[in-house]
Amino acid sequence: MSETGKSQLIRRNQLREECVKAFYSLIRAARIHQANNQLIVQTAKEFVRTVVELSKDAGDVSIQFMGRRIYVQEKKLIFRPETVTLFDGIIDYFDKRAVQGIRLRPTIKDAKGVDLLAFIRLLNDAEKQDRPREWLLAQATPDKHPWVELLQEAYGADAMEEGDRKNRGLRSYAHVMESVQEIARKLTARQSTGLNRARRVLQNMVDLIMEDEPLFRALSTIRFYDDYTFGHSVNVGILSMCLGKRIMLSKKSLETLGLCGLLHDLGKIEAPKNILNKPGKLTDEEFEVMKRHSMDSVRLIVKIQASRDRKNDILLAPFEHHLKYDLSGYPKTDRSSALSLFGRILAIADVYDAITSPRVYRKSVLPPNRALGFMWEGVGKDFDPILLKIFINMLGVYPVGTLLVLDTRKAGLVVEPPEDAEGPLEWARPWIVLLKRDSGNGHRKFVKGETINLAEKDPKTGHYRHTIVKSLNAANYGIQPIDFIR
Ligand SMILES: [Fe+2]
Ligand SMILES: [Fe+2]
Repeated sequence: MSETGKSQLIRRNQLREECVKAFYSLIRAARIHQANNQLIVQTAKEFVRTVVELSKDAGDVSIQFMGRRIYVQEKKLIFRPETVTLFDGIIDYFDKRAVQGIRLRPTIKDAKGVDLLAFIRLLNDAEKQDRPREWLLAQATPDKHPWVELLQEAYGADAMEEGDRKNRGLRSYAHVMESVQEIARKLTARQSTGLNRARRVLQNMVDLIMEDEPLFRALSTIRFYDDYTFGHSVNVGILSMCLGKRIMLSKKSLETLGLCGLLHDLGKIEAPKNILNKPGKLTDEEFEVMKRHSMDSVRLIVKIQASRDRKNDILLAPFEHHLKYDLSGYPKTDRSSALSLFGRILAIADVYDAITSPRVYRKSVLPPNRALGFMWEGVGKDFDPILLKIFINMLGVYPVGTLLVLDTRKAGLVVEPPEDAEGPLEWARPWIVLLKRDSGNGHRKFVKGETINLAEKDPKTGHYRHTIVKSLNAANYGIQPIDFIR
């Protein structure tokens, strides 16, 4: 690229950043100042200038976020130490209003200052509404503000393209994870925190799970190597909600169940780090300390600012999650009544995610199919038999994310359960994506190869084309299955 080309590119990137900066200043200034205030007038001018400038060769200017990234005119802005607070601020701002962003038209240059400010005020006020996006859409109509459009997430399955489907899932995952991190952070800092954000992002996740449960089962294989507790909490929430969907729980109950999953290990934020992250086996005393976390989760949930009813709904399951079906486990109890339904669901999702996740002290873990086999040994004693059966049925013989080695010495990742399987032989023959060693020097060790159906037979011999030799846990090889799933 020529020098002028390069400098133009740098200039445009700067301009995109300036546009976001001006937008952020404007929303903040509008909170405290009147329309005729000098600061407001200046920031509004600056904002309009950047939009008009950017629109010169690209038409409309969109500002939106995806995951933890900001995009202006569909170009990702680079995170720099100086822009972290700004970008995080914008992401949280849109997120709290349940919109993806805004699209501005070049006609903004003709908008009156008061109209522009009126729109910014609507955006600001939306935070206080129960359903901010719906409220905004009703208020900020095109006839009043023709130069701007709210970018909302379209949840309809037919509006989704494949790549979009995964991004939407990943975004929902990130939002849910952030909501539990925020609760934990605030409780640690002894600040007040509520459940509204977590509930809102879970509502969204429940909607998506209703449409596309397989995607969320795949997302639940995401492993965080340095932030185990929160990734685990999200995965337990997802697996619990998927299981809850299988037993026909209502959307409202799924949301509550998801919240139980999200908060079940909250008490671990109070556990001493040296015990929590200890490589190697815990001593009896250390294990006694760790055992306190389910009771601590309950104590911390009580501290959250929410109505008593709402909290009552989510106290029992976190308390019970280490109690077994036969009431052994901890915290020790002399009750004879059975565990709650949510407690029994959490116990299954919790153990499954824990034993398939690599940890500091246990680098090598069971492949998902062997983990299910191991859990089955505890059926009726550790786990509710009916729920465990449904759980195993849901994940399949080789759950998505299992790494399979074939007789040809090729390895593939399970990406989809078998199609129309008619008997046990076919249940064990899912679709896989072959993994090829990456010859480039990228950070990934593998790239996607051919997709094959293990149920496929050779028409000449009538035999299956491929034989599975063994199964492995993808996480042991640093593979995130979701990277290979469409
Ligand atoms: Fe736990
Ligand atoms: Fe757990």
